[in-house]
Amino acid sequence: MAQFNLAVLPGDGIGPEVTDEGVKVLKAVGKRFDHSFNLWYDLIGGAAIDESGEALTADTLKMCKRCDAVLLGAVGGPKWDDPQAKVRPEDGLLALRKGLGLFANLRPVKVFPMLVDSTNLKPDVIRGVDFVFIRELTGGLYFGRPKKRYRTSRGRRAVDSMVYSEQEIERIVRVGFELARSRGKRLISVDKANVLESSRLWRQVAEEVAEGYPDIELEHMLVDACAMRLIQNPGYLDVLVTENTFGDILTDEASMLAGSMGMLPSASLAGVPREGVRIFGMYEPIHGSAPRRAGLDMANPCALVLSVAMMLRYSFGLPAEARAVEKAVDRVLESGYRTYDIFSEGRTKVGTSEMGDQIAERIGG
Ligand code: IPM
Ligand code: MG
Repeated sequence: MAQFNLAVLPGDGIGPEVTDEGVKVLKAVGKRFDHSFNLWYDLIGGAAIDESGEALTADTLKMCKRCDAVLLGAVGGPKWDDPQAKVRPEDGLLALRKGLGLFANLRPVKVFPMLVDSTNLKPDVIRGVDFVFIRELTGGLYFGRPKKRYRTSRGRRAVDSMVYSEQEIERIVRVGFELARSRGKRLISVDKANVLESSRLWRQVAEEVAEGYPDIELEHMLVDACAMRLIQNPGYLDVLVTENTFGDILTDEASMLAGSMGMLPSASLAGVPREGVRIFGMYEPIHGSAPRRAGLDMANPCALVLSVAMMLRYSFGLPAEARAVEKAVDRVLESGYRTYDIFSEGRTKVGTSEMGDQIAERIGG
């Protein structure tokens, strides 16, 4: 029996509820495929601040490093939102990303055929949409120095810095090429090279890396044009790679194509994914902690469950198990089960834990 160690950080708001459902599905996978998953629970975000005053303690980070992967629910909430606060729940997430070297954030956007009617866009525009954003996660404006607020004789000033080294660009662009190779053999690199120096270096390095991938077609797209393209013709997109802040903004926009953030998983990887290679990673839904829905058994657990599928694929090297989870989600949607966020007339409305039960039941084969 294969053994895997998993750090589980449920976090705040709806995080713990959706994480429970992911664990439920993971246990069903263990049973069917004869794997043993050892779960190591700990606190992050607001829950950790309440307990220790820190959003991520050194012990929690150490524990995560000893595991094969990290599963995370969500962080944040109004209780910890004071702009003057010394520490914020989001700091825990950023420290985890940096501390674990998770530079590659994969955010697939797939429109489920049975959810076409639950988005705001015309069915013709979004039908069949299936692309992946690769967002650089440990550089750029989020971490660049200088980053500070200061006083001048003419008042207060603040600075954030968009800094990228060629090594940082090279490794993330490489993730893009590798993923493109396993998909449509096209890579779109998103930048703002008409204005930003860091983008001009990005574009140049992307061209250099492209020489090692003659089978992949590389296209450059300006970030503003990309924002437009996402709405105008999302079917055109396949694999996109971009820097941290652009990726943050574009992936929220992209998530609306799928109808609900409650359907979209993500993986943050510490290496370049290649067939047959296991990479350390953290897996989390792209939605937030939705404090107003917390504790009501309402939240959609699909994003977290699909994050478990990504974990099985990238960190545990179990593609068949990953597909079993994805297929189970498909089947549950086909059977008409819907949480409130994707509900439409004539379907069966269920809560978080019922949705998880339905998915887990269909792992059986
Ligand atoms: C995300 C979130 C985070 C980010 C926040 C919570 C720090 O928006 O994962 O996209 O900006 O990266
Ligand atoms: Mg974001």
